[in-house]
Amino acid sequence: MKLEAKNVTAGYVPGVNILNGITLGLAEQEIVTVVGPNGSGKSTFLKCLMGFVPASSGTVRVSGVDCTAMAVHRRVRNHRMAFVPQLDNVYGPLTIRDNVRAGGQHMPRADRERRADELLHRYPALGDRANQRADSLSGGERQLLALCRALMPRPDVLLLDEPSAGLSPAKVTELFDAVVDIRAQENVTVLCVEQNAVQSLAVSDRGIVLVQGQVALQGPARQLLADPQVSELYLGGLPTATNPEPFMEESL
Ligand SMILES: Nc1ncnc2c1ncn2[C@@H]1O[C@H](COP(=O)(O)OP(=O)(O)OP(=O)(O)O)[C@@H](O)[C@H]1O
Ligand SMILES: [Mg+2]
Repeated sequence: MKLEAKNVTAGYVPGVNILNGITLGLAEQEIVTVVGPNGSGKSTFLKCLMGFVPASSGTVRVSGVDCTAMAVHRRVRNHRMAFVPQLDNVYGPLTIRDNVRAGGQHMPRADRERRADELLHRYPALGDRANQRADSLSGGERQLLALCRALMPRPDVLLLDEPSAGLSPAKVTELFDAVVDIRAQENVTVLCVEQNAVQSLAVSDRGIVLVQGQVALQGPARQLLADPQVSELYLGGLPTATNPEPFMEESL
């Protein structure tokens, strides 16, 4: 297992658990989507895996190494984890290039410059404007920039918190295509929390439904997508003959 959580509990206030014993394993290069109602603990789970919120019990292992009590920066440097938070994931006043560089603060200078060039070259939407301020980017481009920043240290495990939030349907598809492309190019394992669950599951190997800090359901992404009850409860309904585009309403 590349990433393993065992019976993880965590919370923000002593005695109040937000995560109530989560057990989950991700194989190398798997893409797994986490869905669930607002407030069910999805962001908290990612923050706990990354070390921003300490686990009060249970263990987190990366590539077999116990990271449960390890500081965030050590998880980044030694265990190749990267996290793209739900909000505020780019520095607007900095240039696009400086945002990418910021992801590699701890890297030796030459390596950092080479890696930033490589990523900027791979994504011309960013590379062609590398010296412009990041707040000049569109929503989709900003998300791509946040991904590039996270990719700087060549992580093995990428934790994404609602990367498609606020994007138009076409841009949501583009973003998930980029995630699949990143998996192939970077050999990365991806755990992705998403509200656009249908599109995210469509590019995922497996899906997890989190309810009240517990895994309520999990299975192959295709199976979750085909389950009428799951779709009704958590995916906003699947396209049907009478309701061909159930997601459009949200994006209007
Ligand atoms: N910093 C914090 N301090 C105290 N409580 C918090 C903090 N962050 C989150 N919580 C609480 O933890 C619970 C889970 O929040 P979390 O952000 O993990 O949910 P979520 O599943 O990501 O929701 P959403 O879909 O709205 O993003 C909520 O009840 C929230 O109010
Ligand atoms: Mg959240």
